[in-house]
Amino acid sequence: MSIPETPLVLDHPAMMMAWSRARRREGRTVGFVPTMGNLHAGHVSLLKRAAADNDVAVASVYVNPKQFGPGEDFAAYPRTFDSDVAACAAAGVAVVFAPRDETMYPHGFATSVDVAGLGEGLCGASRPGHFRGVATVVARLHGLVLPTRAYYGEKDYQQLRIITRLSADLGLGIEIVGMPIVREADGLAMSSRNQYLDPEERAAATCLYRALLAAQRLADKGKRPAMALEDAAAAVIESDPPAEIDYVSLVDPDTLVPMSALDEPGRLCLAVRFPHARLIDNALLLPGGIIEGAHGE
Ligand code: PAJ
Repeated sequence: MSIPETPLVLDHPAMMMAWSRARRREGRTVGFVPTMGNLHAGHVSLLKRAAADNDVAVASVYVNPKQFGPGEDFAAYPRTFDSDVAACAAAGVAVVFAPRDETMYPHGFATSVDVAGLGEGLCGASRPGHFRGVATVVARLHGLVLPTRAYYGEKDYQQLRIITRLSADLGLGIEIVGMPIVREADGLAMSSRNQYLDPEERAAATCLYRALLAAQRLADKGKRPAMALEDAAAAVIESDPPAEIDYVSLVDPDTLVPMSALDEPGRLCLAVRFPHARLIDNALLLPGGIIEGAHGE
């Protein structure tokens, strides 16, 4: 086994930009994975894909203060930089960009990026300002790293849709690649926030995945009204204290507008509060069963 090469660690935006510009001038493709660090197998799947699909891969590690609301976990967010760099090395990442707050948002920084519509429902309703913070940092990171392709997880489905829109609207020519959710063996979607859960909460946390499966099972039987599918998912969560529903919503996979029935594939999105963490998950639900009326001559 070869020892992975240590990535170059850059903390200054100008250095990052110069490095990327040089690669692009050489005609090389640059894959980019933005993260807030504390890397787990979900992040690693993105890093490996970025390294495999491109000539060089860049990861950023930056806990972005602008996307945390007052009373959220900015201070507590796990910071594990040395093991993050090791994970990047093992995944074949060439550069880890780890900017400091003063250089990401220098004195006088006044711009914020709002993606209207897509950022308002779901997590946007429970976390006001969150997606403005995400879109602002992503626009800045994309502008500094100048990637050919950038990789985002479907775990944060609303974020992925917002960034896809942002990238198309700003016309920076970056291809946004969505990647499937990586789960623990029991179905819990991997997240840095899972480590906040106490043992009782961790046991109950599989209810998000079980709720998604329950809704798909109902859809497989031909059930289509959104309310019936959402109720089936909600019932699973409600039977698992201390889990408390923030939202359960079947939405159009592109526009994130609530659907009234699963006549086309839909995204079932969940947010669930536990005493020590708020978790999200989602799945593409496919209409199944016999289409009502189709066989009834
Ligand atoms: P973070 O939560 O560190 O996630 C970085 C990327 O990893 C995101 O694209 C996220 O969707 C993806 N990811 C996280 N858990 C995953 C899982 N279980 N399976 C697949 N992908 C997963 O998302 C952010 O950081 C920030 O908002 C950021 C985009 C970096 C802006 O600050």
